[in-house]
Amino acid sequence: MRLTPLILLPLLVAADQAPLPDKAAGWFDKAKAYVSSAAPSIPIPEFPNPLDAGASKVAAGVVEKINVRNWQRKLAPKADTDEEWIILLTGGNKTCYGKCGPVNTAWNESVPLLKALPAPAGSPRLKLGLLDCEKDEVLCTAWASGVPVIYHFLIPAVASTAGTTAPPKPLHIIPLNITTTEASDIVSLPSTSKSRYLQFDEYTGILHPFDGTLAKFGLLHPFGYFMWALGSIPGWVMMLGISFISRQIMSRRMMRAPGIPEVPAAGPGAPHGQAAPRTAPATGSQPKAGGGSAKKRK
Ligand SMILES: *[C@@H]1O[C@H](CO)[C@@H](O)[C@H](O)[C@H]1NC(C)=O
Ligand SMILES: *[C@@H]1O[C@H](CO)[C@@H](O)[C@H](O)[C@H]1NC(C)=O
Ligand SMILES: *[C@@H]1O[C@H](CO)[C@@H](O)[C@H](O)[C@H]1NC(C)=O
Repeated sequence: MRLTPLILLPLLVAADQAPLPDKAAGWFDKAKAYVSSAAPSIPIPEFPNPLDAGASKVAAGVVEKINVRNWQRKLAPKADTDEEWIILLTGGNKTCYGKCGPVNTAWNESVPLLKALPAPAGSPRLKLGLLDCEKDEVLCTAWASGVPVIYHFLIPAVASTAGTTAPPKPLHIIPLNITTTEASDIVSLPSTSKSRYLQFDEYTGILHPFDGTLAKFGLLHPFGYFMWALGSIPGWVMMLGISFISRQIMSRRMMRAPGIPEVPAAGPGAPHGQAAPRTAPATGSQPKAGGGSAKKRK
């Protein structure tokens, strides 16, 4: 298992905070009110269902690939306009147990529909991203994500937040059901559509990629690498390491213990006899042993 349980933490938190039904209904009313009259709520099921081949062609053109090197730049606040990012985190055989295929298809179908959404004046610019956790396990680990899931970010423009040092970048995490997700479930998410992202609580935990404690201390990437390494080191390497370290400790203790005949024998002047096959710790403690015998000689 590559993804450690910690990776699922935000999802569990999100599930734990699942809104009560009436709360969700309230949100949905708010969401409906949020769709401006210029952009009447989109009759999503009536959209033509694009052929997969055409859809993936469109997807290739407008979906930005997110990775560990570019995500901070791509998601940085822009000079004049707010941006709303919808990022699909998906995986393959290793990270999604080969089950993300249907979700990937639904995503590809949703991309042309998302791009076709009307953008009324003042609405944030809609950006689409894809993070392949199979290729970029470190970033997925740093973002603490299970797959498949959509990360919805609202990135305020620089102009609108001038003066504030670190304006919050709200993140909503939308888990996708691997069997039932359809394009309409994705198209209804953004604020220019039905704002369905509001049905999911905002994530404000320590692993928030921008506002979380780890990110504030610049520890997000180290954490990602550390957890990823922990998950990637095979068990036998771990066992070898533990056995090596415990041997080192044991031999150090033996060297320090009094009454061991080897200690004087390994003192200065002693030929490379019994002490020779010993490894690092024996040599390391030799000055001590030598000092001990020197004192004895006085
Ligand atoms: C989705 O579109 C991308 C980009 O063209 C393509 O690489 C991928 O194979 C497509 N996936 C599916 C499941 O259609
Ligand atoms: C994923 O697994 C399936 C079935 O186990 C296999 O057919 C396919 O080639 C694998 N894909 C990759 C990219 O390894
Ligand atoms: C996905 O949807 C199916 C059918 O509605 C349901 O049985 C299943 O529990 C759902 N899976 C998750 C992880 O919510």
